[in-house]
Amino acid sequence: MDRRLVLEYTRVTEAAAISAASMIGRGEKDEADARAVAAMREAFERVPARGTIVIGEGERDEAPMLYIGERVGPNDPDLVEVDIAVDPLEGTNLCANGGPGAMAVLAVALKGHLLAAPDTYMSKIATGPEGRGVVSLEMSPAENLRALAAAKKRRPDEMTVVVLDRPRHTEVIRELRQAGARVLLITDGDVAPAVATCLPTSSIDMVYGIGGAPEGVLAASALHCLGGEFCGQLRFRNDGERERASKMGMDDPDKFLGLSDLCRGDVIFVATGVTSGPLLKGVRRIGDRLHLHSLALRSQTGTLRNVKTSVDAGRFSFEYARSL
Ligand code: FBP
Repeated sequence: MDRRLVLEYTRVTEAAAISAASMIGRGEKDEADARAVAAMREAFERVPARGTIVIGEGERDEAPMLYIGERVGPNDPDLVEVDIAVDPLEGTNLCANGGPGAMAVLAVALKGHLLAAPDTYMSKIATGPEGRGVVSLEMSPAENLRALAAAKKRRPDEMTVVVLDRPRHTEVIRELRQAGARVLLITDGDVAPAVATCLPTSSIDMVYGIGGAPEGVLAASALHCLGGEFCGQLRFRNDGERERASKMGMDDPDKFLGLSDLCRGDVIFVATGVTSGPLLKGVRRIGDRLHLHSLALRSQTGTLRNVKTSVDAGRFSFEYARSL
């Protein structure tokens, strides 16, 4: 993929973040999501690549835009064909309630190089580079904690693990704490802490537990770019979801998924902050300008860009920018 696409796709998450930001703290998560989706969908048309959404807002019959299988971008046969995973607003509740860490996010790979996962759940472990080949969903939480601590030359009680605060994680949280870990509970948004495991400035060593499968593919794409580790296994809520996975081409829907099952080859990952969190600053209006903060990653070179953008708020004459 042409490296210039990194900046092109950054414009896409920036557009989604600006639109979602007008709904911060308004308690309307569906409207916040809808605005991010519409802005992202429109911005794709200006990117010189022919994209297919493989992770999106749902199936065609349930999502009007950015549904699985939708083609985005100009229909020019000379342009590169890519697969795209999107979450126009990761952390819809965070945005609606003004909580930390909502962001617009996407990952892009060459055709066939991203897992087309159904909209179900996934067991996940995400770590930085030291976890490669060390952690596994076939081991218990305590075993994973000890193995990662050893690889990082630390004691288990010097480790920090992020877990979604859900009743389904009661036992995992208990086991990790008993094994010595500091467990940080988050209300939503497990992509950002997964990315943070690879950043030396972050204190997060591991993300553990069950979250959204689409978010799993997005997190894995970032970790692929940063040299981290990701283990996944789809967790179906019903037979319908399992059937959908088979129809999407998964021979063994219960397979333990390694990083290379989720994404391969040349990958671009971009996220733009909507509300400020540990990874990104949110959209801020200062005077007549909107300030944005994005993280843009490219696997081919391992480049990590912190992109700070300031745009003229007047360009957004629609209600979005006026209400920021
Ligand atoms: P949304 O952006 O769709 O609200 O998802 C946020 C999120 O917290 C993800 O980060 C996480 O993987 C998933 O939801 C967890 O799902 P659930 O809230 O059903 O436990």
